Amino acid sequence: SAEFTYQNGELFAENVALSDIAGTFGSPTYVYSRRHIETAYRNYTDALAGMDHQVCYAVKANSNIGVLNVLARLGAGFDIVSAGELARVLAAGGDAKRVVFSGVGKTEDEMAEALKAGIGCFNVESSSELERLNRVAGSLKLLAPVSIRVNPDVDAQTHPYISTGLRDNKFGIDIKEAPQVYARARDLEHINVIGVDCHIGSQLTDVSPFLDALDRVLLLIDELAGLGISISHLDLGGGLGVKYRDETPPTPAAYIGAIRERLGERKVKLLFEPGRSLVANAGVLLTKVEYLKHNEHKNFAIIDAAMNDMLRPALYSAWMDLLPVRPREGGANAYDVVGPVCETGDFLAKDRELVIEEGDLLALASAGAYGFTMSSNYNSRGRAAEVMVDGDQVHLIRARESLADLMLGEQLLP
Ligand code: LLP
Repeated sequence: SAEFTYQNGELFAENVALSDIAGTFGSPTYVYSRRHIETAYRNYTDALAGMDHQVCYAVKANSNIGVLNVLARLGAGFDIVSAGELARVLAAGGDAKRVVFSGVGKTEDEMAEALKAGIGCFNVESSSELERLNRVAGSLKLLAPVSIRVNPDVDAQTHPYISTGLRDNKFGIDIKEAPQVYARARDLEHINVIGVDCHIGSQLTDVSPFLDALDRVLLLIDELAGLGISISHLDLGGGLGVKYRDETPPTPAAYIGAIRERLGERKVKLLFEPGRSLVANAGVLLTKVEYLKHNEHKNFAIIDAAMNDMLRPALYSAWMDLLPVRPREGGANAYDVVGPVCETGDFLAKDRELVIEEGDLLALASAGAYGFTMSSNYNSRGRAAEVMVDGDQVHLIRARESLADLMLGEQLLP
């Protein structure tokens, strides 16, 4: 991306050398660019100019409160899936009215928290959830703003683990059953129907599945109007892909342009829930080569980051670019780049041509989304530090976990 560039033979984040960051904060460390996040957000809002809209960043992609704060300052809304994410949004200065709450398993406590905070909308995913929300809102003497998440049954043509809009997925309500659910919602005393939403999958690289979903949702909106149920907002979820390798996803401008064209003269507020497309290419995972190890068939680079820090390669066989922080001259070897965790699946990159020596720094690219948030303490490894680069400044936004952090809350038997 434009914020991670080589300057005088070494890799920088904005105006800061990654080697300086490793020197100050150690490794592995997630490094994010504030400017990248801001530009990515504005690409959406610029494309939506002149339309009633709200961009609700999907917190699950990267939930560090420093990241959320950058977006909150721009007036972003947020898409949350738990009380934990709500707490983060509020701690980061986010506006509860601009929060939508997604997810198939909202607990009563989570509903109550969100109602008391005054969130903008519950994206309801089942009839049982609707009934529960009505009860919880009633007990608090509040009215719950609701959108029904419909499943439009379109094939997002992405990895099966991150495709969500097909009939067989657990997400949303079958679009054919939606009118009944809306009719019920209208009759419930503590429910206020305001919207319709869908989210068909992640890392989509083509607009056509989005447009197919939109067409189906627009038919539903017309059908609901016939029943006297008016829908004031349409939330198309997230899912716009990014370039990891050679993908050519549409830009937010092209994606939103196509949607605006399809909407024509309709008066509806548009919501989006982008996660990856705002933050993936805003971050790298900075790591150090601990050992080089060669056998007859293979060269291994053993690095200080592992699957517990970045799960995507192990879980989805995701390909992520790996960049030398200070490229060397010389003959390259093909390396499998692996972590210290005791699993064969613990790799971050396979079969990469690299000229490296022990002690060298590497940067795993496009690591700003679904990196830190999916990290764990497996093998009792403390989670990585996170820093935000802003011009020539570096701010620590999460300290590296200490050994004491690892045992926090644990107890010996009496
Ligand atoms: N809205 C809903 C309801 C979602 O389920 C998701 C992502 C988003 C928005 C944001 O989607 P995005 O714009 O980031 O594609 N861990 C996987 C991705 C899982 C996505 C889950 N839902 C990965 O690393 O590829």
